Amino acid sequence: MPRTPTRCYAFISHRLIRAALGDSPPRDVRWITPGPGLRCAEIGSGGGFYTTALARHLGPGSLLVALDPAAHDPRAQHGAGPGARTVHVAGDGCALPFASAALDALLYSYSLEEMPEHTALAEAERVLRPGGQLVLFLWRPLVGRHRTTALTHLARGGAFELRRADRGLQNLRLAYRKR
Ligand SMILES: C[S@@+](CC[C@H](N)C(=O)[O-])C[C@H]1O[C@@H](n2cnc3c(N)ncnc32)[C@H](O)[C@@H]1O
Repeated sequence: MPRTPTRCYAFISHRLIRAALGDSPPRDVRWITPGPGLRCAEIGSGGGFYTTALARHLGPGSLLVALDPAAHDPRAQHGAGPGARTVHVAGDGCALPFASAALDALLYSYSLEEMPEHTALAEAERVLRPGGQLVLFLWRPLVGRHRTTALTHLARGGAFELRRADRGLQNLRLAYRKR
């Protein structure tokens, strides 16, 4: 599936548009439960719409890896901000650059739709430790039949347990725990 064109992405990333669509970074990042020394990755962090708020939410002492194929996009924020130490990495959600069971939490912030879900979710399962958090923000209009199948598979599969779900006007938010 082709990736969202950069121009389109820049348009939908505008904060006013996102607010109108119901996205609020300080509120939405609370889908991830913080903890001491938490190791978290945001997959498809893009221009950093959620990254700064997520780092603040996780707090000092935690690590946030913001991963995106376009991590070197000049819009991406580099360096230290308040909260978790944040590292921007250029990478692919289908071949995550983490050891098995290395992470405590993963956030896919409207990015899973851009990847072959089964491959990406198999990677999520690999890199999360048992008990780890998997949080998905999905654009509802893009959740087509085969994508819903991937999510149904996730919910029914042995690896993840659905803990929380919320349907907005245009989005779907899901939180799973790895068994
Ligand atoms: C709709 S944007 C969302 C960006 C940001 N998280 C937000 O909420 O504004 C989708 C993001 O997924 C990224 N992406 C596309 N293919 C990817 C892949 N294979 N692995 C990781 N990220 C990918 C794109 O570069 C883009 O930044």
